[in-house]
Amino acid sequence: MEFQKNILLVDDEKEVLETWSDLLKESIENCQVSKAINREEALSMLEKGTPYSVALVDLRMPDEKDGLAVISDIHGLSPFTTIFAFSAYLNPLNIDESFKNGAFAVIDKGWQYQEKITINLVQSGIALYNLHKSHLYELSEVLTNVCDTDFYFIEHNERVSEYAVMIGEKLLSGSGGKWKDVNIEELRIGGRLHDIGKAFIPKEILGKPGKLSDEEYMLVKTHVKKGAELIKKESTTLQNIRLAIEEHHLWYAPSDRGVGYPVEKGQQARKGNEISQMGRILAVADALDAMTSNRFFDKDRPLEEVIEVLLDFSKDQFDPEIIKIFGEKEFVERVRTFRDAEAKKRDEAKKRKEMK
Ligand SMILES: [Fe+2]
Ligand SMILES: [Fe+2]
Repeated sequence: MEFQKNILLVDDEKEVLETWSDLLKESIENCQVSKAINREEALSMLEKGTPYSVALVDLRMPDEKDGLAVISDIHGLSPFTTIFAFSAYLNPLNIDESFKNGAFAVIDKGWQYQEKITINLVQSGIALYNLHKSHLYELSEVLTNVCDTDFYFIEHNERVSEYAVMIGEKLLSGSGGKWKDVNIEELRIGGRLHDIGKAFIPKEILGKPGKLSDEEYMLVKTHVKKGAELIKKESTTLQNIRLAIEEHHLWYAPSDRGVGYPVEKGQQARKGNEISQMGRILAVADALDAMTSNRFFDKDRPLEEVIEVLLDFSKDQFDPEIIKIFGEKEFVERVRTFRDAEAKKRDEAKKRKEMK
């Protein structure tokens, strides 16, 4: 499905409208940009019924209240439009008012790299709009790109997504309805987003070879909550994914070998079937990739060895029913083919980098 990419720009300066219109068209393939120089023009465009996925609204127009009023107009007439308030004069009051009137985020015209950030935000705004309009997949792609440019981070998310889909398909095919909560598209997105919260953790910690200090590990563990919070606000349609993100480090049957996280103070961690089916699948997909493509070692661990570890941790860390499918030759071969192709891609990329 093609993304709806209509963007509405509202600014009282003609030059600003032209510059942004050109920049957006250059950076976002096939986007359409409508320009309004005041509230009146913006309103007449909205009333024509064009579905705008994103609106960029200058807060400071000749009439002080105009920017905020336009935000509220757009929000009222087109509630799914992702609205960004845009200003060189942000203050706590107009930021607050922008959110109250329906803005999704504010952009400070004075930010360093403001253009780049804005383009990325507009792209995620487009995805968000389209998500509300039912298409989920591309959102994860955009969010992944926006939140982090760390290569391993992106690749790991992609591979976890692929493994999760393989596991989900396998479980669905033989379950007799037992894995009915599993939705393949949601798994695909969930995999891509499962570590999105790591975008908030300093790179030096994420990339640190060797053991993390207790403090650093505590910080890394916050990625599940942070990732889930990022999703929470966006859409009711993403609730299953949000939950799976929050649960992907929980242990199926906590034992003296571990319990996983997050565990709230004074509370028991969710376990067993209290963890969503998608959360349990993501946990296995995540571990599978973490073990087969360790970023800190040159050599990948042989798949047989990884499966041994999964088997060893089946019944406490992982749902044994999921681990059971790794006993099936055909499934293991599917995993191996994918993993080998990924490893080859990685090697080639590494060689290209070395040749530069
Ligand atoms: Fe994680
Ligand atoms: Fe992960």
